[in-house]
Amino acid sequence: MIAIGCDHGGYELKQEVIRYLQDKQIEFRDFGTDSTASCDYPVFAKLVANAVVSGECEFGILICGTGIGISITANKIRGVRCALCHDCFSAEATRLHNNANILAMGGRIVGPGLAVKIVDTFLNTPFSNDERHLRRISQMEP
Ligand code: RB5
Repeated sequence: MIAIGCDHGGYELKQEVIRYLQDKQIEFRDFGTDSTASCDYPVFAKLVANAVVSGECEFGILICGTGIGISITANKIRGVRCALCHDCFSAEATRLHNNANILAMGGRIVGPGLAVKIVDTFLNTPFSNDERHLRRISQMEP
């Protein structure tokens, strides 16, 4: 199960990503927002982050205008490793090395074609389980 959320700046791209998830028959829960009306990205960052750390959802996808505010907020929640990725190399590397559990993107930065490739890469790359990466991840929490 994938948790997905956005603010008004990410709403249009979220709809594209949802179409991709539906096409691939990937189960998801949409935590909003539900329109392009102005709203506060921390609300949606926290809903998705909590769904991931509670175990309700395996991964999260968060989209705001830049991906910055929504990823900063998500990363304040213990257990979240949210990676802001605007290229496939980063999406692959953050799964392999950081075991990232939430992908963030900026709806005003990436187009839908690249965004769904980034999502596809993120969701289909397993964590490496390498000892050095496990060690570094264990040092992340404050
Ligand atoms: C909203 O205008 C914008 O600030 C937000 O989507 C995001 O880019 C914040 O980091």
